[in-house]
Amino acid sequence: MPLSAAAPHETTIAVVGAGRLGTVLARALRAAGFDVRGPLVRDEIANTSTTESTENTERIDIALLCVPDSAISDAADAARPHADLIGHVSGATSLDSVDFSIHPLQTFTGTEAPDVFHGIGAAVAGRTPEALATAEQLARALGARPVVLDDAHRAEYHAAASFASNFVLTVLDAAEQLAHAVGIPRDEARDLLAPLVRQSVDNWVAVGAKEALTGPIARGDHTTVARQRTATVPLDLEHLFDALADSTRVLAERPAA
Ligand SMILES: NC(=O)c1ccc[n+]([C@@H]2O[C@H](COP(=O)([O-])OP(=O)(O)OC[C@H]3O[C@@H](n4cnc5c(N)ncnc54)[C@H](OP(=O)(O)O)[C@@H]3O)[C@@H](O)[C@H]2O)c1
Repeated sequence: MPLSAAAPHETTIAVVGAGRLGTVLARALRAAGFDVRGPLVRDEIANTSTTESTENTERIDIALLCVPDSAISDAADAARPHADLIGHVSGATSLDSVDFSIHPLQTFTGTEAPDVFHGIGAAVAGRTPEALATAEQLARALGARPVVLDDAHRAEYHAAASFASNFVLTVLDAAEQLAHAVGIPRDEARDLLAPLVRQSVDNWVAVGAKEALTGPIARGDHTTVARQRTATVPLDLEHLFDALADSTRVLAERPAA
């Protein structure tokens, strides 16, 4: 069921799951002109549509499951009698229970405006060429850039997203803890460290990690690295420090691409 870019209001989309992503996605799809139901809570899809299309009743074109990964299979079973096409928004989950998937490569709290999707990547997949085309069209309608993802490569893709988001926060929290330990209030520590973080990210985007790397490991200053490590011990951060220092040495010694 290809979407009509010219007439999105002719496509009915039920957003199932009223959590962080479902709330924002329903808002954004509505802003893009689709006829959106929801975000729907558990089993609400059964009251929103009928199982048969008649003149007086409605059938859902697409059910988009924004539920925890562990609930996708059950939610798909519940949506199947009511919707022509079913998709999920999980980066980690295969297409086993659904027709397509669209995974926005961004982190959501539920408060974001519809334009949060503009310019971001969105991994798309489909069990059929038609289902894949629908996922790509949905991504473009949201203003996102679709990237086709094979189910066989989901684990690598999702691990990349975790490194870029979850693990960055773990590292930044360690920096905040160390600054706090010397008496800098936590909010001030984040303010002080933020320009350094942003510049590092900008440099990585521009030239890659190898070229962007500065600091004692890149300079081969082992004495300073050893003193830093000692400072992490009272906060139980030495294992994280060791793992990151080891990987940073490998990066520093990697031949230029
Ligand atoms: N948040 C993000 O940054 C983000 C980014 C990309 C992709 N995603 C994907 O988005 C999906 C949802 O994540 P989330 O962060 O939005 O989770 P969430 O905030 O925990 O929301 C999940 C929602 O699904 C509801 N739910 C659970 N089982 C259901 C069912 N069987 N039928 C209908 N609703 C059900 C939950 O309701 P109850 O409270 O009643 O359990 C909750 O409102 C996941 O696949 C995740 O991988 C999330």
